[in-house]
Amino acid sequence: MNPLFKAEVYQNRRTQLKKAVKSGIAVFLGNSEAPMNYPSNTYKYRQDSNFLYFFGLSIADIAAVIDFDENRDIIFGNDFEIDDIIWMGNQPTLASLAEKVGVKEVMPMAKLSEYIHAAQTAGRKVHFTPPYRGDNKIWLSNLTGINVNDIRNHASAELIKGIVNLRSAKEDCEIEQMENACEIGYKMHTAVMRRCVAGVPELELAGLAEGITLSYGNGVSFPIILSQHGETLHNHGHEAILQEGNMLLMDAGAENLMNYCSDNTRTLPVGGRFTQKQQEVYEIVLKANVDAINAAHPGVYNKELHTLSCKVIAQGLSQLGLMKGDVDEAVRQGAHALFMPHGLGHQLGLDVHDMEDLGENFVGYDDTVSRSDIFGWSALRMARELKPGFIVTIEPGIYFIPQLIDNWKNEHKFEQFINYDKVEQYRDFGGIRIEDDLLITADGHKVLGPAIPKTPKELEEIIGK
Ligand code: GLY
Repeated sequence: MNPLFKAEVYQNRRTQLKKAVKSGIAVFLGNSEAPMNYPSNTYKYRQDSNFLYFFGLSIADIAAVIDFDENRDIIFGNDFEIDDIIWMGNQPTLASLAEKVGVKEVMPMAKLSEYIHAAQTAGRKVHFTPPYRGDNKIWLSNLTGINVNDIRNHASAELIKGIVNLRSAKEDCEIEQMENACEIGYKMHTAVMRRCVAGVPELELAGLAEGITLSYGNGVSFPIILSQHGETLHNHGHEAILQEGNMLLMDAGAENLMNYCSDNTRTLPVGGRFTQKQQEVYEIVLKANVDAINAAHPGVYNKELHTLSCKVIAQGLSQLGLMKGDVDEAVRQGAHALFMPHGLGHQLGLDVHDMEDLGENFVGYDDTVSRSDIFGWSALRMARELKPGFIVTIEPGIYFIPQLIDNWKNEHKFEQFINYDKVEQYRDFGGIRIEDDLLITADGHKVLGPAIPKTPKELEEIIGK
C-alpha cells in the first residue's frame, strides 16, 4: 500500500473542488498497468496525478466520481479475488482503503457506467480531465459515448481550472514531500559529481543516478538527460565515455514514495575544472539562474523572471562578443533564443511538468498573460503570476546548436543582434543548463532541498572526490 496523507487532506481538497465546480459530476479514471512487451509484463506502475491528489490510492483499475449536486464522493473498483491473491498476496478491501482517504462510498466497477448514464440522462454535466493514455481514452469514450478521437476536446475547462487553482499552491504536507524528493535529487547529483572523471561511461553515471532514485523512492521523475552533448536539450543517449575537456550535463530528478518530483540540472567539467572559455559561459548561466531566483517572490510573473534571465544571457554574450546591439530590444524580439530556445521553467509537484496533462496553457497562462508566438518566447511553459506555495523550476541555459546556428545565419536572422563570426568559434562548445527547484513563500522564496554544488569552486571541490 502506498503512503498517504491524513484522510482530511483528501477530504479538504474535494471540498475545495466542490466550491470551484458548480454542478454535475466529475469522473476521475485511475491508470491501469501499462504493458512493456506482453500484457502481463508491465512498466513500473504510476497512478494518475489528479487521482492521487484527490483520492490518494495508487492502485490500478479504479475510478472515482465527485458528485457536485449531491455532495458525494465515490470510489469504483473490484475487490481482489482468489486468483489475484494467489499471485499478489492478501489485499485489503477497497472499502477499507477508501476509508483511509475519507471516502465512505465504494461501488463495483460495473456501476460506473450506470452512474454516468444516469447523470447524462438527467441532463447533468459530466466533467473529466483530458485523458492522455490510450486505454483511458477508450475507457472514457465507452463510458460517455463520446467518439474516442474527439474525447480530449470534451474535457471540462471548469474542472481543469478548479484543479489547477488547487494544485498550484502546495500545502505544507506537500512541501515536506517536495523537500524529500529534492533530498533524493541531491544524492543523485552529488554521486554523479564524485564520479565525473575521464574514462567513466555516461551509461554508468545514468545508472548510478537512477539506482539512487530507486533506493530512496519511486524512481526517476522523467527519463534521465545525461550527456556531454548538452546542446541537445533532451539528450537521452548515454553512449559516450567521459573525456577531459568536455562538460557533462545532467538534468535529472527523483519521484519520492508519495509521487512528488524533483528536477535539477547541473553542468559539470569532466575532471573538475572548466576551461576559461567554458567558465566564461558558465558564469553567465549561473548569473541568469541566481538573479532569477533572487527576484522571485509572490506577485511577480514568472514571465518577468524569464525575461530577466534572458537579458542576463544576452548581456553576458554581448560582453563575450557573441551578441551586440540593444540587449532589451534583442530579447524582446527573440534574438537570445539562438542560445536559449526554451523557457525558464515549469511548475513542479506530483508531475515533473506539474499538471501539464491538463493543458500547458491552463497551467502556465491565464486571462492576464497569453502565450507569445515568437520562437523562444513561445516555449515558455509557465508565465503567470507566482503565489505563495507555487513551486517552479529555474533553469536557464546557453546552448550552441550547430544546425540552428546554420539556419539562422543562412536566413540572415537578427544580424543586428548576433555576431555570427564570433558564434562560429563556439559551434562545438556544447550546452550549459543550471536548474534549481524554487518554492514561492509568503514573503519571498526558498530553494528546495540541500544546496547542490553549482559554483565553479564548489564543483571543483566535489568532482572526482
Ligand atoms: N527537466 C526536464 C524538463 O523540464 O523537461
